[in-house]
Amino acid sequence: MNSLKDLQKKAQEAIVASGSLAALRDVEVRYVGRSGELTAVLKNLKNLPPDERRVKGKEANELRQLLELRVKEREATLKRQEYEGKLHLERIDITQPGRRHHKGSLHPLTIIQREIETIFASMGFEVAEGPEIETEWYNFDALNIPAEHPVRDMWDTFWLQNNQKEIRNPKSEIRDKSQIQNSKQQKLLLRTHTSPVQIRYMEKHQPPFRIIVPGRVFRYEATDASHEIQFYQLEGLMVGENISLANFRQVIASFLKKLFSREVKVRLRPSYFPFVEPGVEVDMGCIQCAGRGCPVCKHTGWLEIAGAGMVHPKVFKAAGLNPKGLQGFAFGFGIDRVAMMKYKIPDIRLFYQNDIRFLRQF
Ligand code: DAH
Repeated sequence: MNSLKDLQKKAQEAIVASGSLAALRDVEVRYVGRSGELTAVLKNLKNLPPDERRVKGKEANELRQLLELRVKEREATLKRQEYEGKLHLERIDITQPGRRHHKGSLHPLTIIQREIETIFASMGFEVAEGPEIETEWYNFDALNIPAEHPVRDMWDTFWLQNNQKEIRNPKSEIRDKSQIQNSKQQKLLLRTHTSPVQIRYMEKHQPPFRIIVPGRVFRYEATDASHEIQFYQLEGLMVGENISLANFRQVIASFLKKLFSREVKVRLRPSYFPFVEPGVEVDMGCIQCAGRGCPVCKHTGWLEIAGAGMVHPKVFKAAGLNPKGLQGFAFGFGIDRVAMMKYKIPDIRLFYQNDIRFLRQF
C-alpha cells in the first residue's frame, strides 16, 4: 500500500517538475512505461493472494489512469508554454520607430565634376586624363616654363625624392633638345596643374580636337579658406585651323550659363601664362549680387574664374605638332572654386575633412 502512495507522490512531483516535453516523456517512461515502476507493480500482482491482488490491482490501475491523466495535463501546459514563448520571440512591435539606413552619397566635388563633364560633352568635348605624378618636362618645360625662369615661381612644387640619383646619371649629359627632354623626364613631381595633359594628349592625337581634363593637382603652399595643398582643376583645350578667343568666350559663357542655370556675364582681361599668347584672365559677373557689389566679389561685381589664352606655338612644337596653320585655345580653372561658388561653401578645406555633417548636405 505504502509503496503505491510513495510511487504516486514521486511520480506526480516528477510530472509537475518536468520543464519540457522531452523531460515529460522521460518521466512517463520511468513510471508508466512498459518497464516503468508502476508496470512492475502490476506485474507483481500475480504473486499476491487473490484478495490482496484484487484490491491492489484496482488501486494500481486507478493510479495508472491518474498518472496518465496528469501526464496529459502537463503535456498540454508545456505545449501552451512553448507556443507562447515562440509567440513572444517572434513578436513584431509595429509601433516601434524604424531603424534608419544610412545611404552613401556622392562627394560634392564628384557631383560638380560630373555636371561639368556633361555640359562640356554637350559641346563636343571629350574627357582626357593624365598622371598625378608628372615629370618636370611635361609639367614645366614643354609648357614654355624654363627651369631658371622666374615664371616658375607661379607654381609651388612638391618634388619627389628620386631626383638627385636620376639627375647624376652620366648618360643624361645634355646635347640636344631630345636629351633635355629625356633628362628632364627623370625629374618627378606632383603635377601643379592639369596643363601637362595638353602635351600628353597632343603627342598622341592629331587636330582638330576638343578635350577637357579634370584632375587632382598639388601645390606646396600654406592652407587657408581658399588654398589647399591639393585640389581639383579642369583644363580645356580646343585645337583646329580657325579656333579663336571669340570661340573660347562663347564656350565658357555657355558653360557658365548651364552650370549656374542663369545668364552669366563674362569678361576677359589681359594676363600672362607662359603656355598661351595672348593670355587672359576670365571673370564672371558675381552670382551673389548680380554685379551690384558684395563681400563675395569684394565689391567689384566680378569673380575671377579661370586662366585662358591661345596655345603658344612653342607648346605645339613641344608636343611634336607643326604650329603652322594651327590655332587653339586653352583654359584652366579650379573645380573646388566653382563648387564653392555654386554651393556657397565658405572654406575649401571642408571638401577634404570628410565631416559627415558637411557631406550629408549634398
Ligand atoms: N595652368 C594654370 C594654373 O594652374 C591655369 C591655366 C591658365 C590653364 C591659362 C590654361 C591656360 O590652360 O591657358 O594656374
